[in-house]
Amino acid sequence: SFVLLNNQITTRENVKIDMEDRGYNFGDGIYEVIPIYDSKTFSMDEHLQRFEESAAKIEIKLPYDKSLLKRLLNDLKEKNNITNGIIYIQMTRGVSPRAHLYERNVEGLITGFCREMPFPVEQKHSGINVFLTADIRWLRCDIKTINLLGNTMVKRKATDENCHEAIMHRDGTLTEGSSSNLFIVKDKILYTHPATNLILNGITRQKVIKLANENDLTVVEETFTLKQLREADEAFITSTTQEITPITSVFGDIQANFTVGPITKALQQFFKECVE
Ligand code: PDD
Repeated sequence: SFVLLNNQITTRENVKIDMEDRGYNFGDGIYEVIPIYDSKTFSMDEHLQRFEESAAKIEIKLPYDKSLLKRLLNDLKEKNNITNGIIYIQMTRGVSPRAHLYERNVEGLITGFCREMPFPVEQKHSGINVFLTADIRWLRCDIKTINLLGNTMVKRKATDENCHEAIMHRDGTLTEGSSSNLFIVKDKILYTHPATNLILNGITRQKVIKLANENDLTVVEETFTLKQLREADEAFITSTTQEITPITSVFGDIQANFTVGPITKALQQFFKECVE
């Protein structure tokens, strides 16, 4: 398969990463996951903008401009002949003798690949179980860093408890999923955590808020409690790979059950109309 290495499309065998790459030693890097529908990328500009913002937040410089990056990612998609799936791109601070102190604004090392990946048709229809647990992550969840141990550990736990995703709470309020954002619906009003340092401001999250507003639904970007989750009418997660997936049961720190409700279904329909 073809992959991206800095400004070159090459084959995977040609990519050799040094053992002192800071991504490998420290998780010192950032990433994006961009969806492909019917051979076309969706929300590429929004993802690349967030990529650039994450880079700026940790003071890594893009080695070339966003328009070239966009061209390269489109080439990568074409060369691999992807119909429905994702582009993964990451950028690390590159190679330097292992030491905590980093040099500011060095040019990052970019790698990327594409993969065919079916979107979760059945889960979007029937909903998923989620496992609610403490948010053990750091205080800069707004950065889309490859440093994801807090996320991977809660995901492992959720899977061990036969749940499809972990959702997390901090100081009595819900934050987000291990790789998704979280919404609840109560009396036809949507609630989701505000885009602060405690969550990743998902591109799908932003799209759902926009679609809701365009369709006369109220979205309140305020924190909500475990009790509000338990008493909600509907709940769902959003992400590039999960789109809008309803939650039917919550296990873990509280228990709750939901049906796949009318607002979730309406938003799924609006979203579908955007991507086709
Ligand atoms: N994850 N929150 C976290 C912690 C995430 O990792 C993600 C996405 C989201 C949703 O963001 P978006 O709608 O922009 O995909 C929220 C990607 C899909 C991943 O790590 O695979």
